[in-house]
Amino acid sequence: MKISIGPKPFIQPNPVLVIGSYDQRGVPNMMAVAWGGICCSVPPCVTISPAKRTHTYANIITTQAFTVNIPSTSFVKEADYVGIYSGKKENKFEALGLTPVRSEAVNAPYVAEFPFILECKVIRSFEIGEYTQQFIGEIVDIKAEEEILGEDGFPDIMKVQPFVYDEVGRNYYVVGDLLAKAFSVGKKK
Ligand SMILES: Cc1cc2nc3c(=O)[nH]c(=O)nc-3n(C[C@H](O)[C@H](O)[C@H](O)COP(=O)(O)O)c2cc1C
Repeated sequence: MKISIGPKPFIQPNPVLVIGSYDQRGVPNMMAVAWGGICCSVPPCVTISPAKRTHTYANIITTQAFTVNIPSTSFVKEADYVGIYSGKKENKFEALGLTPVRSEAVNAPYVAEFPFILECKVIRSFEIGEYTQQFIGEIVDIKAEEEILGEDGFPDIMKVQPFVYDEVGRNYYVVGDLLAKAFSVGKKK
């Protein structure tokens, strides 16, 4: 029997994405985002939804660009930190000792220490409710550390070691074992 629990922003799991952006003065910032994900394949696009009160929102409105930095489990503290404190009050790169690198592809910084980066230019933007803006960024390029690439030349999830977020318990979880081959296990016999 199903029990109604009412409308909530629940999906299990959410990705943990760290958004890189520049402010008007060119100061780099990072923010944690769990409301986001891939939203189109051709062209490849990603959606993120920062609240309007965030420094990141104001930055992206100005620059129309952002990076999506995917942290490995070893950076869980840093990812959480950038989801607690605001770039309005401090330079989070300096506070954490992380290295901002200017993207060659878009007007945004990425995190040198993180293994997997999407460089995005804003192609659409929507207001959602009173407080949130959804940005859709076209992925102009991806930068990945050589060490996390698989034999096909693309990021290998077991090497990236991303982690996921559960809004219900407000916890982070590691990505587990391979379950089955997609677009295969469900094939008609
Ligand atoms: C795991 C996690 C996920 C988060 N996801 C979002 C999100 O999707 N949208 C949002 O507006 N805030 C989200 N936050 C809160 C922001 O990251 C937080 O308000 C941050 O201080 C904003 O930084 P900024 O002001 O420097 O841009 C999240 C925080 C955490 C810890």
